[in-house]
Amino acid sequence: TKHQVTMIAGDGIGPEISAAVARIIAAAGVEIAWEEVEAGAGVMAKYDTPLPESVFASIRKNKVALKGPITTPVGSGFRSVNVAIRKELNLYANVRPLQVHAHQFARAEDIDLVVFRENTEGLYAGIEHYVGDQAAESIKIITRKASRQIVEKAFAYAVSEGRTRVTAVHKANILKYSDGLFLEEARQVAAKYQQSNPEIKFDERIVDNMCMQLVQYPGQYDVLVMPNLYGDIISDLGAGLIGGLGLAPGMNLGDEIAVFEAVHGSAPDIAGQNKANPVALLFSAVLMLRHLGEKTAADSIEKAASKVLNKGEVLTADLGGTASTDQITKAIIAEL
Ligand code: NAI
Ligand code: MG
Repeated sequence: TKHQVTMIAGDGIGPEISAAVARIIAAAGVEIAWEEVEAGAGVMAKYDTPLPESVFASIRKNKVALKGPITTPVGSGFRSVNVAIRKELNLYANVRPLQVHAHQFARAEDIDLVVFRENTEGLYAGIEHYVGDQAAESIKIITRKASRQIVEKAFAYAVSEGRTRVTAVHKANILKYSDGLFLEEARQVAAKYQQSNPEIKFDERIVDNMCMQLVQYPGQYDVLVMPNLYGDIISDLGAGLIGGLGLAPGMNLGDEIAVFEAVHGSAPDIAGQNKANPVALLFSAVLMLRHLGEKTAADSIEKAASKVLNKGEVLTADLGGTASTDQITKAIIAEL
């Protein structure tokens, strides 16, 4: 079957890594009709906005998108183009699976975590103001609905993937109302799943302790679910545990739409130099292929990339090597 998928190449290293990923997917024999749409700082002059309506139209039609990183231009009216996409399409779950594919770069062999980050509210609601010129306030929004939705998503995933532990991460000891409400909803969802799926254990961690535990005992944790800001921070911590931003994939899920993107940004410092590591976006595309039902191709791409990483002969600079984007792409295709 031929899949129709929206492709947003994005800014900075985006065009280089998305071209690399499209080549690898084609080499794996998956037929995708990419519908390419433009967004980001690079198209400001052309459309007078970094986020033309055509982007939403395409994603709403195809329901699946692969997205490169986007730089938010100053003066565009957007706090973040990436956050705007997630909000507009109600992609309320940002999911970041952290597995060890490159053993020499991992902090522990047994890391196999999935971070569920609430994606639409919390401290990223974008409500800020100055109070006179000596203070500023940023409002953190936590709703029962969004909290319930993200915890539901995490449990449903745990059930479908055969996982056995869901940990809610919070700071309800201090933020008694906002995080308290998140935790109440988490406990209610957990109680419901205790009836239907008693094999899944539920527990809670305060976010600062969670950071320490993840560094000391990363192998003990499984599915983690948390409000927006904690998810942003913990998922980068997790990326560090498995070998860095060049390896960490992600997806943004709503009820019907899924947008797949790496954790990293547009890396302006190395853009256009054929130096970027395409593997984080490639692993995001592997998640996308599984979502599309292309399990065999997803597995073989994952295996081929892991082989190249573990051989260690063809690595990009972020992993201590000297290979170009092109060279690692060719090496992965050769393994396929
Ligand atoms: P960044 O992730 O772009 O870069 C951080 C460091 O990691 C840089 O030294 C970069 O060279 C390196 N790096 C990142 N990805 C790499 C890759 N695939 N291969 C090799 N090296 C890689 O984060 P930064 O510098 O904070 O942000 C740059 C821009 O990206 C900003 O405009 C930011 O807003 C945007 N951004 C976009 C995101 C998205 O589209 N989802 C996420 C994060 C940042
Ligand atoms: Mg981040």
